Amino acid sequence: MSHADEAHHELLTLCSALGALLELHRATGASGLPKATAELARERGWSAEPVVVPTQQREEAAGGRGVQVPAAPLPAAPARAPSSRVLLEPSLPVAVPATLEERWARLKALEAAVADCTRCALSQTRTHTAFSRGDGSSGVCFVGEGPGAEEDRQGVPFVGPAGQLLDKMIVAMGLKPSEVYVCNVVKCRPPDNRKPSPAEISACRGYLEEQLALMQPKVIVVLGATALEGLFGRSESITRARGNWRLYQGIPVMPTFHPAYLLRVPAAKRDAWQDLQAVVQQLGRTLPGRG
Ligand code: URA
Repeated sequence: MSHADEAHHELLTLCSALGALLELHRATGASGLPKATAELARERGWSAEPVVVPTQQREEAAGGRGVQVPAAPLPAAPARAPSSRVLLEPSLPVAVPATLEERWARLKALEAAVADCTRCALSQTRTHTAFSRGDGSSGVCFVGEGPGAEEDRQGVPFVGPAGQLLDKMIVAMGLKPSEVYVCNVVKCRPPDNRKPSPAEISACRGYLEEQLALMQPKVIVVLGATALEGLFGRSESITRARGNWRLYQGIPVMPTFHPAYLLRVPAAKRDAWQDLQAVVQQLGRTLPGRG
């Protein structure tokens, strides 16, 4: 490619990133401008395109499959968790059925088991459990923290104000809310919307593991620090973790801000949008309006 072609390509990239951002502004009221994906990739030392990394080099658990993850450094595995942290019990491997129908049947059975769950005290104050929404056919799973008041009332995750913003973000990514799988680290509402305790997260963790194993997503988007702690078992700054790929059971994970935080701090939507653009790129899809 000549220098002029490269400059032209760069200009097109910037224009379409700007177009996508304006679309997000229209949808969510976000402010701020994103970096062009190529610029962001250079700054972070990634390849601009998703790269196939032999999973074995990254994580034994992936069983040697090649997965597409940007070549970003992975965090060290957590040391043995003290009791004030989420306990990642060595979980039994989930036997994943071969067909989609069987996997959905297992998910339905799991949802019914969760509805009767009394593993922790949150079961005493909940109205409904909120297990999941969406069919995950896009290959994306969003993992949040836990149900709020509206989710507890309806028994569905992310149907309150944060969920409405999440839906706008999903649409801005070029996806339908119905084709992403949305779930939470805990399935029962913590009273007064407090953060779930490490013991509550640990009690619910087996359900999340099984949901993710049965869904087999191509990408997991973790929303906020509590969800990140729920999945990886240690407390981390979401401001530092966001935007950096890591793996869960061989699946690329993108941590980003929780939509409830974005409602409080709209300026952070700019960073969240960068993270979601990286997810779209990882899926091999294009943003709406990019052709
Ligand atoms: N916040 C979450 O983390 N999950 C929900 O389902 C709703 C709000």
